[in-house]
Amino acid sequence: MSENYPAEKIYSNKKTVEEYDSVRFKSFRGKIGNWLDQFAVSRLLKRVPVSEKVLDIPCGTGRFTEYLFSLGLTDITAADISNEMLEIAKKKLGSIKQNINFIQIKAEDISRLRNEFDCIFSIRFFGHLPLKAQFKVLEEFSKSAPSCIIEIPIKGRLRGRRLLKPIVQGDNTAWHKLDWQTTVSNIEAAGLKVVKKRWKVPFISDSCYLLLERK
Ligand SMILES: C[S@@+](CC[C@H](N)C(=O)[O-])C[C@H]1O[C@@H](n2cnc3c(N)ncnc32)[C@H](O)[C@@H]1O
Repeated sequence: MSENYPAEKIYSNKKTVEEYDSVRFKSFRGKIGNWLDQFAVSRLLKRVPVSEKVLDIPCGTGRFTEYLFSLGLTDITAADISNEMLEIAKKKLGSIKQNINFIQIKAEDISRLRNEFDCIFSIRFFGHLPLKAQFKVLEEFSKSAPSCIIEIPIKGRLRGRRLLKPIVQGDNTAWHKLDWQTTVSNIEAAGLKVVKKRWKVPFISDSCYLLLERK
């Protein structure tokens, strides 16, 4: 049985969904953050040919789906648990939406699609997942694709912003962070290995981008 966590439900809330892009990515800081996410992925993507069949899960409002399409990837499936987020993504992607296959599904269930992808992208998702759920999702990724690019927050490093945040604001975040060793053990137990690693912002951010391949 899979574990429940708040992110499964909160992105079905109308207000959260409508404000998702403007709250996170419209400000100057948000735009820089978005650019850094894309830059990290583009570095790891050097190993993924553009002819690949890819899955963006969770696609949210299509932020990364749009970016993957702009890189020339054309066989893209965009999936999310939230129908409300998928609707925003379809609206936002306008004319390119004909080229995207949208699916409402839980990441914990993707191997049921019996659709082998070449690469799975999963950005700003693992931090929402408690340990067991992280493992379950990694296992599903390993069954459904030979490689994946994930973003995952790592605990226990002297990362500037995250170090100051609990002192300044109090650490009330529901973000789940594992240390590097536990993260790697989880990845390996799920049948994957870390091939390449990139920090979103070296020495400052705890957000880490990993290219994983089946062992
Ligand atoms: C922070 S957003 C990230 C969206 C997108 N990847 C991005 O970077 O903008 C988290 C997304 O995870 C989705 N989500 C939460 N639990 C999920 C699950 N178990 N399976 C699939 N999607 C899920 C939410 O609906 C939401 O769209």
